[in-house]
Amino acid sequence: MSAVIEIAGLRKSFTSLRHGRRIALDGFDMLVEAGQVHGFLGPNGSGKTTTLRTLLGLVRPDFGRMALFGEPTPQRLPAVAPRFGAIVESPQFFGNFTGWRTLYLLAVAGGVPRNRVDEVLEQVGLRDRGDERVRTYSLGMRQRLAVASALLKGPELLILDEPANGLDPAGIREMRDLMRDLAAAGVTVLVSSHILAEIEQICDHVTIISQGRRVAAGPVEEVLAGFDHGEFRVRVADQDRAVEVLTAAGLTVSRLPDQLVVGGVEDPARLSQLLGEQDLWVRELTPLTPDLESAFLELTGTRPVPGVPRQVDESTLPGPTGDDPLAVTVTADDQTDEGAHR
Ligand SMILES: Nc1ncnc2c1ncn2[C@@H]1O[C@H](COP(=O)(O)OP(=O)(O)OP(=O)(O)O)[C@@H](O)[C@H]1O
Ligand SMILES: [Mg+2]
Repeated sequence: MSAVIEIAGLRKSFTSLRHGRRIALDGFDMLVEAGQVHGFLGPNGSGKTTTLRTLLGLVRPDFGRMALFGEPTPQRLPAVAPRFGAIVESPQFFGNFTGWRTLYLLAVAGGVPRNRVDEVLEQVGLRDRGDERVRTYSLGMRQRLAVASALLKGPELLILDEPANGLDPAGIREMRDLMRDLAAAGVTVLVSSHILAEIEQICDHVTIISQGRRVAAGPVEEVLAGFDHGEFRVRVADQDRAVEVLTAAGLTVSRLPDQLVVGGVEDPARLSQLLGEQDLWVRELTPLTPDLESAFLELTGTRPVPGVPRQVDESTLPGPTGDDPLAVTVTADDQTDEGAHR
C-alpha cells in the first residue's frame, strides 16, 4: 500500500481583531492509502473543510507537513494536479451554459479528450439533462455536475467535501454507488460527511476529527471494535432474579423497562447457561454491536444532552487551549471573514 495523502502535524489558525485567534487545526494528522474509500468525519466546525482546503493549497497553514502521492504540497501541487480531482467548495458554474458545454470547456482547458464529457455525464446520471442550462439544474444536479467535472481527467484520487449535501435519498444512494464503482475501478476516494450511516456503508477506512485534532483513525471495523464492550440485550420474564444471578456472576447489568443490558460478556452461551440453570429462560439474547454514530458521539464528545442546546464549538473533550507560545504571522489570506457584514 502506498500513501496517497499524508498530513502530519497540520496547524491552522485564523485571526480576527474581534475574536483574536481561533485554532481550526491543532496538529492534525491523516493518512490515506491507495485504494481506500476513506471517510473523513467530524462535527460542524471541527476542521474538515479547512484540512481539505489547506491540502489543496487554497489556505496557507501555520505549519505542518502534507503530501499528495508522496509529493510535498503545496509546493508540488502542479505536478500532481492531473492525478486527482477535488470538490471542496460548491463550485460556481455559469448558469447560461449547458452541463455539456460546461464540461466541454473544462475538458478543453484541461487537455482532456472530448469523448470524456459524455462518459462522465453518463457516470453521474446526467446524460439526459446535459443539454439543459445549468441555471435550470436542481442543487443535486449541480452537485452531480461538480462530481462529473472532477472525474473528467480520470483521476486516481477523488476528494469530495460533503458530496451528499443537497441530495435526496435516491441521489445519496446513487452517489454512494458511484463512489463504490470508482473504488472498484481503483480510484482512491476521500469523502467528508456528517452522514454516518453513509460513511459506514461505503467507507473501509475512517479518520475522525474533533476540534482540529484527529481522535480516531483506521479501518472502520477496527475503530468500531474499540467501542465493543461485549454488551447483550437480554429479555427474560423475571428481570429481578435475572439481575441477581448475572450480577452475582460478575457481569454488569443495566436495567431498562422491558430488557436488561448485560456488559462484559465473553461468551453468550455462558449467559444463557447461567440463567437457564436458575429456570430463567431467555426470550431474547442480542449482541449490541457498536455503530459509527455512537463511536462518533463518544469520540468527539458531542453526545446530546436533552434540553441543553450544544454550541458549535462545544465538546466534552479537552479542546485547543489557544495559548500556544508559537508566534503566528497573520497574512492577508488568514484574515477571518467573520463580522464583515455586521
Ligand atoms: N476564513 C475563515 N475565517 C475564520 N474562521 C474560519 C475560516 N474558515 C474556517 N474557520 C473556522 O475554522 C473552524 C473549522 O472550520 P471548517 O469549515 O474547517 O469546519 P468543518 O469541519 O468543515 O465544518 P462543517 O461540518 O460545518 O462543514 C471553524 O471554527 C470555522 O469557524
Ligand atoms: Mg465543511
